[in-house]
Amino acid sequence: MRKTVLETGSLVAPTWLLVVGLVVSVHASSARAETGAEIFKTRCAPCHTIGGGRLVGPDLKGVSERRDEAWIIHFVQSPATAIEAGDATAVALSKEFAPTVMPDQPLTKAEIVSVLDYIRSGGEGSAAPEPEPEASPAEIARGEALFQGKVRLENGGPACNSCHDVKHADVIGGGVLARELTTVFSRLGGSGVRAILGSPPFPVMQQAYLGRPLTKDEVTSLVGFLRSADEHHALRQPRDYGPKLAISGVIGAAILFILYALLWRKRRKKSVNQAIYDRQIASSN
Ligand code: HEC
Ligand code: HEC
Repeated sequence: MRKTVLETGSLVAPTWLLVVGLVVSVHASSARAETGAEIFKTRCAPCHTIGGGRLVGPDLKGVSERRDEAWIIHFVQSPATAIEAGDATAVALSKEFAPTVMPDQPLTKAEIVSVLDYIRSGGEGSAAPEPEPEASPAEIARGEALFQGKVRLENGGPACNSCHDVKHADVIGGGVLARELTTVFSRLGGSGVRAILGSPPFPVMQQAYLGRPLTKDEVTSLVGFLRSADEHHALRQPRDYGPKLAISGVIGAAILFILYALLWRKRRKKSVNQAIYDRQIASSN
């Protein structure tokens, strides 16, 4: 008797699971296309196009044909892990696209598959990212102040110059822990820099802003500042001979001239020559 009850019970459970599973998967596949498009536009489009050419990362058109689906899922969830594990394709990609490493994407397998469906569909409506709007002078100035920690970041993250340097007239010697950012805007584009600031793909930087992300306005200001530093860089001489040094040189020289003038006046008043002259006049009399 008991045995039969158990047997029916153990049959009922899997049947229910199957039904639930079917319902869920039907539901999921109907929601798929839209989710894939949304995920792509918000998470991938800053760095990838579908048929629009290379951006920060490779063009993803036809990626399902050139790579295995399991490989893509594994790679997208954690590119750094794949590279560190020595996966040949991942290592080759990372060399080609160095220094930027794609950030880990906290997506489920199903979500990545839905993004791949969207990419395979040709990526309807996935325009190249919008060009970075021109920042106002006030935003650029704020970006400069934030970069150097003259103004505190709202959520308490460290100032960028504790790790990075930028060649800019108003920035005095930043950190050397991480790469110099003078030309990062032309290397990665506005949307690439934006994506990095929004979710830093580099472990050290990620750790520094964990739980204290940059606000949207801060990102806009910082991107504006980095763009301005990049644009002015070409016009500027190397830092060692830059305007800062020239100005301090002029001020230094002015101070010296004033000092000399003062000393000179003193000397003239009590001139040794005058004393000798006076003595000689006196003795010749
Ligand atoms: C911050 C920029 C950035 C973002 C955001 C980003 N990627 Fe990437 N992606 C890269 C770079 C750079 C590479 C080249 C490999 C490397 O250096 O890590 C890459 C490589 C890839 C590859 C391998 C392409 C190939 O030719 O084999 C796939 C697939 C991929 N990304 C998918 C995605 C998906 C899906 C998303 C969104 C969920 C995404 N990426 C978001 C920068 C990014
Ligand atoms: C705790 C140290 C640290 C801080 C603070 C930090 N970063 Fe980074 N950042 C890094 C590291 C490490 C990298 C990886 C590249 C490298 O090794 O130089 C990086 C990379 C970058 C890159 C990509 C560089 C490239 O050439 O691909 C950008 C852009 C960037 N940081 C901007 C910023 C900005 C803007 C701030 C301030 C809001 C900031 N970082 C604060 C450590 C830091």
